[in-house]
Amino acid sequence: MKIMITPTETSSSPDLQTPDLETSASPARRVYIETLGCQMNQNDSELMLGLLKTVDFQPTDTPEQADFVILNTCQIRENAEDKAYNYLHRLKVLKREKPWLKIAMAGCVAQQAQSTVFDRVPFVDLVLGTQNIHDLPELTRRLFPAPESQDDDPSFFLEAPTAFSSRKMKPGMQLLATDRQRIGSTYDYINDVAPVRQSPFSAWVTIIEGCDYFCTYCVVPYTRGRQRSRKPQSILDEVKRLVDDGVKEVTLLGQTVDAYGKDFTDPELKHWRLQHLFEALNDLPGLARIRFMTSHPLDLSDAIIDAIAHLERVMPYVHIPMQSGDDTVLARMKRGYTSREYFELVDTLFDRVAGVAISGDMIVGFPGETDEQFQRSVAAIYRSNVMAVNTAAYSARAQTPAGLWETRNAHDEAVPDDIKQARLATINHAVNDQALRWSQKFRGQTVDVLVEGPSRRNPSRWMGRTPCNKVVNFEGAPEHDATLSGAAIGGVALTPSVVAPGLIVPVTITDVFAWSLLGRVAAL
Ligand code: SAH
Ligand code: SF4
Ligand code: F3S
Repeated sequence: MKIMITPTETSSSPDLQTPDLETSASPARRVYIETLGCQMNQNDSELMLGLLKTVDFQPTDTPEQADFVILNTCQIRENAEDKAYNYLHRLKVLKREKPWLKIAMAGCVAQQAQSTVFDRVPFVDLVLGTQNIHDLPELTRRLFPAPESQDDDPSFFLEAPTAFSSRKMKPGMQLLATDRQRIGSTYDYINDVAPVRQSPFSAWVTIIEGCDYFCTYCVVPYTRGRQRSRKPQSILDEVKRLVDDGVKEVTLLGQTVDAYGKDFTDPELKHWRLQHLFEALNDLPGLARIRFMTSHPLDLSDAIIDAIAHLERVMPYVHIPMQSGDDTVLARMKRGYTSREYFELVDTLFDRVAGVAISGDMIVGFPGETDEQFQRSVAAIYRSNVMAVNTAAYSARAQTPAGLWETRNAHDEAVPDDIKQARLATINHAVNDQALRWSQKFRGQTVDVLVEGPSRRNPSRWMGRTPCNKVVNFEGAPEHDATLSGAAIGGVALTPSVVAPGLIVPVTITDVFAWSLLGRVAAL
């Protein structure tokens, strides 16, 4: 691990007074993590909480209660990055009230901005890159040194942490831990640490990090590094532990999840691909649903499609972004496929995987996108028959090739903001049409729903998801208490009980909206 330590500029700024912790009433060590960005960031935050538990930090629900606040950041678009700095600026006020508070910026902005974070937000104590998560326990020992270690002996960093209250702190230091490229997956370094998860029934499991594609608009290869697959045994062990703890559904995560294994060079691992993980997990008693995201069109092999089609616990739902419906734009994005190839792929999925639903991502206003090219993206939404699409206005990112086009006098290429916004509204209309069209297929049908908990809008109803990931809000029916589909849960017979989170229950759909279905527990 590369750690740079810089002295904190404490005395000159009124915001950064040397804390006197002997008089500060600090509680036990508590950590709060705010997460921006994708599911991989969410999973990383869960892992950070797990790692911090090993050095006696307990998670807390608000930054106000915390001694250590970590902001896990996203850099995918300019507004995501702005959000990160705005959040940190708000924390400055809190640090004024609680001078012992330590603040870390983690995630994709941290990895990319490195030490310039300290220039922009000087009250930040730690900048933690995406490939240094497993160094967190050691870093906290440095950030929160033991009270007796107040000299310059570097060995004090190695002392076990003590209770945070009633200790004096050195004027302070700032730590930068942002290694460029690690060999192997972060998650392989910490096999023995359990992430602290948000749901007891559904878990994200990162299986591949980084990306080798370098699409011209995208920061991910720079913020996450090259593709690194996690060892199969580490994944299988983690999922086994999760299932032992009652988890029913896992979502295997990666920026190109279907490229899993392609980077392995070890002869014992080389043959492992996503379909092999599916096969191993499908045989795990107790696991009801296996999901995976995000797939790249170039990596979704026949063998993976076969596995989705034939393994009953692999859910028929594929998130496979198209990004544009126009071949010239696709080529300039460096996506590596044409619209026709994409359509052939989704047609194959519809032919071979019963009940499959497809979702994707589209960018509008990519540099040089004409109205005609944009209209091809709208048409592609209907043609590919996707159930859902995340849409976004193109945002130039400085470190990417497309970002550089704009700075190199190619401003005429840039699509003006008002046109981007108008295109976004138009494409969202098409996305909404498709969502509703998909919902209508379910009217009157009875579907298996994995119950997540009470519905957010109406807590007297339950909320869960169909195999193809449609949200269902539904009424329970105590008179048919759920002997329901207990047997459907990984073959494990459950004690008959009313509908409860973590159970799979059959629900008859009575009404449909674009983004959710309404139903009632089916009578057996
Ligand atoms: N690995 C996935 C995407 C990961 S990033 C894939 O290859 O499809 C998530 C989404 O953010 C992308 O699918 C894209 O639609 C969007 N995105 C990425 N960079 C962007 C940018 N510079 N401006 C706007 N949207 C962007
Ligand atoms: Fe970004 Fe392209 Fe990699 Fe997806 S495949 S993460 S869009 S570079
Ligand atoms: Fe954002 Fe990083 Fe994910 S840039 S989308 S948090 S990989």
